[in-house]
Amino acid sequence: MKILMLSPEIAPFSKTGGLGDAVAAMTKYMAKHGHEVRVITPAYGSVKRDSTWKAYPDPVRVELGLGMFSECAVWNVPFHGAEISFIEYNHFFGAPEIYSKRPDDSYRFAFFCKAAIDFCEQSNWIPDIVHCHDWTTGLVPAILNTRDNWRRTARAGIVFTIHNLQHQGYAPRGIIEYLGLPWGLFSPDNYESLGGLNMMKGALYHATKITTVSPTYAFEIQTPQYGFGIDGVLRHRSRDLVGIINGIDYGEWSPLIDKLVPANFNADDFSGKNICKAELQRQAGLPVKDNVPLFGVVSRLADQKGLDLLASVLPDLLSRASMQVVLLGSGDPMLEHIFSNLAGMYPEKMSVTIGYNNKLAHMIEAGADFFVMPSRFEPCGLNQMYSMAYGTLPIVRTTGGLVDTVIPWDPRMPGQGTGINFHDADPNALRWAIERALQLYYDYPSEYLSVRANGMRKDFSWDRSVEQYEKVYRDAIETRKGAFPPPAKAKPAKNKPAAKAKDAPAKAAPAKSAVPVKPAAKSGTTAAKKKK
Ligand code: ADP
Ligand code: GLC
Repeated sequence: MKILMLSPEIAPFSKTGGLGDAVAAMTKYMAKHGHEVRVITPAYGSVKRDSTWKAYPDPVRVELGLGMFSECAVWNVPFHGAEISFIEYNHFFGAPEIYSKRPDDSYRFAFFCKAAIDFCEQSNWIPDIVHCHDWTTGLVPAILNTRDNWRRTARAGIVFTIHNLQHQGYAPRGIIEYLGLPWGLFSPDNYESLGGLNMMKGALYHATKITTVSPTYAFEIQTPQYGFGIDGVLRHRSRDLVGIINGIDYGEWSPLIDKLVPANFNADDFSGKNICKAELQRQAGLPVKDNVPLFGVVSRLADQKGLDLLASVLPDLLSRASMQVVLLGSGDPMLEHIFSNLAGMYPEKMSVTIGYNNKLAHMIEAGADFFVMPSRFEPCGLNQMYSMAYGTLPIVRTTGGLVDTVIPWDPRMPGQGTGINFHDADPNALRWAIERALQLYYDYPSEYLSVRANGMRKDFSWDRSVEQYEKVYRDAIETRKGAFPPPAKAKPAKNKPAAKAKDAPAKAAPAKSAVPVKPAAKSGTTAAKKKK
């Protein structure tokens, strides 16, 4: 299949969290499975360019609303058997940041959505599947279903993946005019929300198929507790919604080959892990002790991650337990402050690094004994899988992908567990889980080692997930075929068969709004065409 991935992030070029990792790994493995994959993503000012970048020869003309257009450059870069096309448009993407978090973000990414489609058309690279990732790509399904529905790219199956339902992308309604979209999109069972546009919500109505990044999260987001106000839309589309767990890119995250850690190791020989632990303690400025449990945290400091629960229980735990904590993260200034203060109060027990540091993230995964992830919600989570791969026991709240990947340790079922789970998003529940970890470490040392080995032996590779995506893609292509009338030539005669063909789209379409409608913005496109 010819697969077009549209993403605001792709590691190692641009990454704020797991989305960049997930899209990069998915792309590599799709290419490995023989598909022709192109990722289109913005060339932010912070993306490092090198000699592998080849300029697409012509400027790409991006057709906007009201007959206006802009031109951008595209750079093609080979990427593990696939190709990345970077959209260079400095007016919006010249600054280093991925998300400006200013109101102009909606215009930046609206432009990106249109530029991606126009580039496919102009370069004559027509995909079978358009795979959109998160809200920044949320206008693509609408563009393909409305103003551009006559173009070849619009025949592709449209798959929309929710990596995080919390961020839905609220936009002013002026975006409709900016892109020359029909005002019909501005209605409650479409993109309209609170007087503006909700890019994620609309995309959920328009995509042919919807996926999210774990089966448990696919269930959770259909409930008011986890649905961030649009659980109703997801229940409406539940027939087309599937949860597919992310995998690990073992090329980047494997204790056997990792070059960012001081020693490599495997499940049969932990001597390398002991070296990693000692080096981590040294670098973190903690006493080097191999008989004290070391708890690691690598995280965005955001409400999603539940680290306020950790901040609540640490003062008590650090004051009485023999343990060490190494935390790397940034985000909420209040949490940054609390954790830094704790490190100041307990310099022998806690080390805090505020910021983003990939090497230290690898060091923590490899050197820690436990990894703490008390997430309030977690669509998939990659860190708990990295932890298990590195023989570091994850302590996780039972939510989303954490449920689907971590098997709780239970002394009554030896040889099965891979981590420690707790249920309530409550400090006492987390305290219980950390105390259980201390108990496992100190009182059941051989069981601790076997839980560690269990996790390391699990297979979190992408291959299985790629097969599930392939099935979704095939279904999307099939469904989308039904949404278009067959080509005029194929109509045999005036009578019955023609009538049948006319009926077919409505029957085959999964939801009313997933069917393309007639373009309402013809003036924009014709005006632009005339100029050509
Ligand atoms: P999310 O995407 O919600 O942040 P994930 O667990 O899916 O959570 O992915 C987080 C990714 O971001 C991991 O690769 C993790 O190592 C990385 N990461 C998060 N914070 C930092 C940081 N401060 N420094 C380095 N890497 C980080
Ligand atoms: C999001 C989610 C995280 C997931 C990642 C990759 O950032 O918060 O749980 O692992 O996307 O899919």
